[in-house]
Amino acid sequence: MFSTLVDFFREQIFTLKEGSYPFWLMYRGYVSPLGSLLHARMLRKAKEQFPKGHRKLTTTTYSGVVVTIVSFAYDNYAYIVRKNMDVNQCLIVDCGDGEIIIDILKEFQWDPIAVLTTHKHWDHCYGNAALKVAYPNACFIGGKVDRPSICTRLVSDGEELDLAGILIKVHEVFGHTLGHVVYEINQATTSTDPPIIFTGDTIFVAGIGKTFEGTNEQMVASLDQFKNKFCLGTILFSWS
Ligand SMILES: [Fe+2]
Repeated sequence: MFSTLVDFFREQIFTLKEGSYPFWLMYRGYVSPLGSLLHARMLRKAKEQFPKGHRKLTTTTYSGVVVTIVSFAYDNYAYIVRKNMDVNQCLIVDCGDGEIIIDILKEFQWDPIAVLTTHKHWDHCYGNAALKVAYPNACFIGGKVDRPSICTRLVSDGEELDLAGILIKVHEVFGHTLGHVVYEINQATTSTDPPIIFTGDTIFVAGIGKTFEGTNEQMVASLDQFKNKFCLGTILFSWS
């Protein structure tokens, strides 16, 4: 019975008309602590099917940093960023599953200096709580409007951060939520190496995020920002 109700809830949040009262009610439930229980349950079910993530661990180098792409749940991704292959210090981006990230950090003996969260949805911040327990000295960073779970270092548009030897710039891109931020890294040493952006749920490989909170106009303005601020060839880490 409970399982049926949960599946009904998840189905409704993605099919109800945005702006309608039932949609608002379902959405408020999703972003509440109740939503974290639903996310935890979904993670448990996904691990029965994909115990080590739905895709192989992949590491790639762009813009002067090394990014390890970690899959979790059914189609989500988190990222571990290091200044180069030889360092243990790292940054985590969008930790929707703390267990899988902690396993990798321990396996490779990487030390997270900071955890960056693009927005408050549980598939992007549920794992922050577990990371906080495992790495209490890490800095948890998120947008000042969204205030994602556990984040105490709240950032806003244009802020620059220097973490683990990596320079990061914050951009506010509202629409999916009213406090969504993306993180840009641009420290390539050659002009042919493009900047990278962790886009959260604003842009995907083949689409954009649902306007759960913002208006379509806000989303268009946010997408215009990508077009105006970033050069052609910018790498978008946007798989989920
Ligand atoms: Fe989201």
